[in-house]
Amino acid sequence: MVISKKVREISLSPTMKAAALVKELQTNGEEIIDLTVGEPDFSTPQNIKNAAILALNNNFTKYTNNAGTIELRKAIAKKLELDNGLIYSPEEIIVSAGAKQCIYNAIQSLVCIGDEVIVSSPYYVSYPEMVTLAQGKTIVIPTTEINGFKIKPQSLAEVITEKTKLLILCSPCNPTGTAYTKEELQELIGVIENTNIHILSDEIYEKVVYDDFRVFSAAALNEKTKSKTVTINGHSKSYSMTGWRLGYAAGPQHIISAMGKYQSHSTGNPSSISQAAALEALTGQQESVETARKEFERRRNFLHSELASINGITCYKPEGAFYLFPNISAFFNSNTIKNSTDLAIHLLNTAKVAVVPGIAFGAEGYIRISYSTSMENLIEGVERIKNAIEKI
Ligand SMILES: Cc1ncc(COP(=O)(O)O)c(C=O)c1O
Repeated sequence: MVISKKVREISLSPTMKAAALVKELQTNGEEIIDLTVGEPDFSTPQNIKNAAILALNNNFTKYTNNAGTIELRKAIAKKLELDNGLIYSPEEIIVSAGAKQCIYNAIQSLVCIGDEVIVSSPYYVSYPEMVTLAQGKTIVIPTTEINGFKIKPQSLAEVITEKTKLLILCSPCNPTGTAYTKEELQELIGVIENTNIHILSDEIYEKVVYDDFRVFSAAALNEKTKSKTVTINGHSKSYSMTGWRLGYAAGPQHIISAMGKYQSHSTGNPSSISQAAALEALTGQQESVETARKEFERRRNFLHSELASINGITCYKPEGAFYLFPNISAFFNSNTIKNSTDLAIHLLNTAKVAVVPGIAFGAEGYIRISYSTSMENLIEGVERIKNAIEKI
């Protein structure tokens, strides 16, 4: 075998696969409405782009500190203090090429062969694959829209073994948009408070929340929890900077320095130019964040009420992120549409609307619809979905 066992055991990201298929169809002239995308459709704000241009012109184009520039890590520390009530020194912060790399580095640094990592389904597609690459074992706690796609403390207690190393939380969540309140986190994390189980808290969608929902960081619960938590965040979703590849992690110094050691032998520092831009994003005007949030809220309200009005669909109204995760299992039959993949294919063929099947996120019976596209596309897209569903 040429390819290593651990890489043979993982698959190409299904969301990336879906996006690539849509691009291919669009290139071939098909008028597809793409509701698969996991990135804001807005441009990166001009002040951030200007900071990058300045960095380039000032020849800020060399290697930086492996963990990120001290200026950026200080700005991140300030952000974490002001937004999340978390006090970290720059040595407890690492900047990487996207939140994804931070998560990967954290899992590589924490998980030993055979260690168990708890995630709830529906999950972000990369978590289980990253655990596989670390030769750990993913333990899935299924959730449904009935309990708001949240893990019940009792369900967490039931899966803990002596091999449990890590609990991954994603709030607000991709793909469901669900988010835990402070009280819910308190109850859930209370189950593992007196254990050595660590927490990876993925907060990449923290700026995309609705209806005055107050985001709360797991690490801010208490010092004990903070001492076992790695908080993940980044610029992709908040500042529309997906292509810049800039994310960061904050946590106990021994874990952050282990992640730094790992990074020093894999990618090294993230792009110097992106770091200069990221510094401006955190320290410059923040109006664009609120403008984007409001627009996402408008789209969520529209799309949610449209989907909920379709006979047979039930859809959780999420607190954050830019996805809806409707339950479409009422349309399954023993003939043409047996599962979420069949339904996604039906929507693509019949309606020319691209969505991601729920099974990609470990949850059969659902599809993920991104509303990170124009209102015009959403209006047209939902109309086409209604028509295609009527034909089943
Ligand atoms: C839950 C979640 N975590 C992490 C990431 C990765 O973000 P980044 O672009 O910063 O690598 C994504 C991107 O879709 C995500 O949805």
